[in-house]
Amino acid sequence: MRHSVSDITAIIRDRRTIQPKDYSQREVQRDVIDTVLGNAIWAPTHGMTQPWRFTVFTGKGREKLSAFLGSEYMRHTPPEKFMQRKYDNHVQRPLQGSVVVALGMARDPKGKIPLHEEQYAVACAVQNMHLTCAAYGLGAFWSTGAVLTGEAMRDFLELGPDGHCLGLFYMGYPAVEWPKGYRKPLPDLVRYLGE
Ligand SMILES: Cc1cc2nc3c(=O)[nH]c(=O)nc-3n(C[C@H](O)[C@H](O)[C@H](O)COP(=O)(O)O)c2cc1C
Repeated sequence: MRHSVSDITAIIRDRRTIQPKDYSQREVQRDVIDTVLGNAIWAPTHGMTQPWRFTVFTGKGREKLSAFLGSEYMRHTPPEKFMQRKYDNHVQRPLQGSVVVALGMARDPKGKIPLHEEQYAVACAVQNMHLTCAAYGLGAFWSTGAVLTGEAMRDFLELGPDGHCLGLFYMGYPAVEWPKGYRKPLPDLVRYLGE
């Protein structure tokens, strides 16, 4: 055995989605952010394209992001579909924790890898981030939706015309009890074909 299977199993199963409204005031330090992102880039990547591009919002950067998301929600949403709760989520979440990471993806210039495979690679990177957060006792929340993944967001992040934003990754120390997770039983999800 090269590593402790019980340690990695514990981290994988303890990793939890915790939303920014449940974060404490405790700041996530720069060295922690760097370790989270440093682990992200060790995700698998078809053709070694390493498509992840992260934008880290801290301090006043969070205010810029909050203002952008508020105005983009208004632009995306016809008046009859406007929901105050959703508007508030867009504006308030970036301010509820000390750091938000935008999950950018850059296409390989030669286009040798299909778009969905580049997205899979970034999703693997996000899981590395989330697991690292769990090891630090940080809750994290991968937030998606039209505003966060649209072209305006891509341009706001300066990802270029072929880039994509796969959402925002919030992380923070929880002010609430660590949530319990649940999953369907393994036998419901697995089929062994031996012969
Ligand atoms: C690709 C992806 C996008 C997600 N987007 C959202 C989202 O927009 N809103 C949300 O409430 N949760 C989102 N989640 C988090 C799930 O709700 C969460 O993983 C699920 O409830 C299981 O909880 P756990 O992560 O604590 O195990 C997303 C998860 C993934 C993998």
